[in-house]
Amino acid sequence: MPESAYVFQRVDDQRELERLRMIEQVFDPASQRRLLATGLQAGWRCLEVGPGAGSIMNWMGEVVGVTGRVVAVDLDPKFLREVERPNVSVVRSDIRTAQLSQQSFDVVHARYVLIHLADYEVALTKMLDCLKPGGWLVLEEPDFSASRGIVGDERELGSVHKVNQAIAKMYATLRMDHALGLKLPALLQRRGLQDLIVENDAPLCAGRSGMAMVMKMSAEQLSEKYLDTGVVKESDLERYCRFADDPSAWAIYYATIAVSGRKAGG
Ligand SMILES: C[S@@+](CC[C@H](N)C(=O)[O-])C[C@H]1O[C@@H](n2cnc3c(N)ncnc32)[C@H](O)[C@@H]1O
Repeated sequence: MPESAYVFQRVDDQRELERLRMIEQVFDPASQRRLLATGLQAGWRCLEVGPGAGSIMNWMGEVVGVTGRVVAVDLDPKFLREVERPNVSVVRSDIRTAQLSQQSFDVVHARYVLIHLADYEVALTKMLDCLKPGGWLVLEEPDFSASRGIVGDERELGSVHKVNQAIAKMYATLRMDHALGLKLPALLQRRGLQDLIVENDAPLCAGRSGMAMVMKMSAEQLSEKYLDTGVVKESDLERYCRFADDPSAWAIYYATIAVSGRKAGG
């Protein structure tokens, strides 16, 4: 199996933690709503794949209570040294090779993880195998093909366009799909999941919004990778960051496609 090529693996830790916390601030309310819609409750067994800074993992631990359990699997759980709850355990592993008991979870959740895998189907098989019959899979992945600057300084808009192209090229070079989110509904349908709930959330955001800050922080963390694509120069990255900081500049930074589906049986 090829080693993980997770793009944020060798970046500055402190700034990565800040970026992950910003992602949580922006996206946790919708993720929590989607997870509660599955019937998540006391006593459930949950798998959180790629917990990042751990807010959803800890929140699920609170919801399922002492009779429930949360297992969190992360390639590098460096931000999870202090697990807050006794019913939550963290496993350091690549989800593709993780040792997990079959048919043992009521819900499996991953947000912004599969996009980082060229062979995401392998991870999906693992997640489905460890789901109980009748259990829920909840996936939330980006669609960067939705990214576009809308209103702002002409030159900055030009750089926003180029940075969006660089993001697409970076993922393509790694054989990852920058629009993976769009494929999720058909993917889960093909795998036989039932009662699919599909949401496509492409917020139009001003500079300095949480979403703009997430993408600015990503550009700072991945600047070398964006430059390596040959599509952008330093000056484009500077203009992109200025745009993301300007409350009068508007963009769709990316869309999130969320799909929930139930495994047959149960
Ligand atoms: C972009 S972060 C998202 C974090 C969190 N899910 C969130 O949305 O706030 C991706 C996370 O997935 C983890 N990850 C990436 N590839 C993985 C893999 N193959 N197996 C397990 N975890 C992985 C990373 O270490 C990181 O914690």
